[in-house]
Amino acid sequence: MLTRQEQMELILDHYENPRHKQALADAEAVVEGGNPGCGDIVKVYLKVQDGHVVAAFEGEGCTISQASASYLMAEVNGKTLEEVLTIDQEDLMENLGKEIVQQRTRCATLSLETLRAAIRKREREQMIKNSH
Ligand code: FES
Repeated sequence: MLTRQEQMELILDHYENPRHKQALADAEAVVEGGNPGCGDIVKVYLKVQDGHVVAAFEGEGCTISQASASYLMAEVNGKTLEEVLTIDQEDLMENLGKEIVQQRTRCATLSLETLRAAIRKREREQMIKNSH
């Protein structure tokens, strides 16, 4: 269990040194998610390679939204889609530091919502592809 201080440092570290922050040229799905309240964005790039998730993001916005995106990308890369789909908002907020992010749910979960939208989009596109 991290202390509040360690959790703040974790968030700042992800914000300042984001993991997997890049465009993926060969992504199977790209979704841009936004928080209408503030205009912040997280754009998720997703593909599945040999059964494992490869995900990256680009974005601009508040510390928590961008740190959350970096944290989530580090968490999901290499996992199966099934494993990724078990991650819920509670898990993410818990890992980021519930006390710190609980007043900022929308900021903290924008990345997860966008990733899930990218998974759904990829599924639809795969279905269309396979039906031809
Ligand atoms: Fe916009 Fe956090 S203030 S996502």
